[in-house]
Amino acid sequence: DVRKAELKSKIKALLKEKNATMVAHYYTDPEIQALAEETGGCVADSLEMARFGRDAKEQTLLVAGVKFMGETAKILSPEKRVLMPTMEATCSLDLGCPVEAFSAFCDQHPDHTVVVYANTSAAVKARADWVVTSSIALEIVEHLDSLGKPIIWGPDRHLGAYIAKQTGADMLMWQGECIVHDEFSAQALQDMKALYPDAAVLVHPESPASVVAMADSVGSTSQLIQAAQDMPNQMFIVATDKGIFYKMQQLMPEKQFVEAPTAGNGATCKSCAHCPWMAMNGLEAIYQSLSTDDAATHEIFVDDALREKALIPLNRMLDFSA
Ligand code: 13P
Ligand code: SF4
Repeated sequence: DVRKAELKSKIKALLKEKNATMVAHYYTDPEIQALAEETGGCVADSLEMARFGRDAKEQTLLVAGVKFMGETAKILSPEKRVLMPTMEATCSLDLGCPVEAFSAFCDQHPDHTVVVYANTSAAVKARADWVVTSSIALEIVEHLDSLGKPIIWGPDRHLGAYIAKQTGADMLMWQGECIVHDEFSAQALQDMKALYPDAAVLVHPESPASVVAMADSVGSTSQLIQAAQDMPNQMFIVATDKGIFYKMQQLMPEKQFVEAPTAGNGATCKSCAHCPWMAMNGLEAIYQSLSTDDAATHEIFVDDALREKALIPLNRMLDFSA
């Protein structure tokens, strides 16, 4: 509509004027991903977002995603301005892992290596030995396990259980979960598979173990997109946030993608396969973040001492994956 077209052209002009680039996650709404692409920014998974932000030549990063992604960008590029459409966009994993309690848990097991998911606050990262994203978690835990190290894992218990199962590593788990993936239902997926017997099942490892067990491919958002390209199937049942369909349909217009069912079959689901925090990244909010000079409402700041500590485990991940 007219307002949207007007906002898009204003955003494009502001990105140029402010020497800014936009980096968006696959879970943001299609029009946000399209805008990032049109303006020479990037649409990516969490690990690629971190790399893109770090390497961008622009002085300002507009991060369309959730708070931990903005914080990660700032930790990696303290000299850049990092803007977010809204500071309200958080993550249930981050919320469910307050630093005081997590730190106390780590203190009880001083012989353990602390591995945290990127979906955490800067303070939790600062308490960790390693940061991982879902695309690299398996390899990093395999590596640590080969050194014979017991691990504290936080905060996603489903991703942790998947990795422990795959690697056999000794892992003590924090009990957090993603509200979006936690809702996928193995029972309902069984019924859907019966309906579409030729469809392959793609599952993000933040999903419950019973759903992961039914997957033909398990991986991060980027890895699931790649799997759909590599597999011969014409149809896919996808257990992750529905934002990912934008890129899947763009790359594979001839293939068909259906949402994996959530408990309650859509009647009573809470997130219904779309993250409420990712959905906050609308055009109005993006326009506001670029047009205002009120740093308190849109700019990410990370305390210096915390930043220096959090940078160490983040760089370990980036160096490991390079
Ligand atoms: P990835 O894009 O790294 O798979 O992360 C998924 C996620 O939940 C981000 O919030
Ligand atoms: Fe967090 Fe899940 Fe939303 Fe990702 S989709 S930001 S893991 S709540």
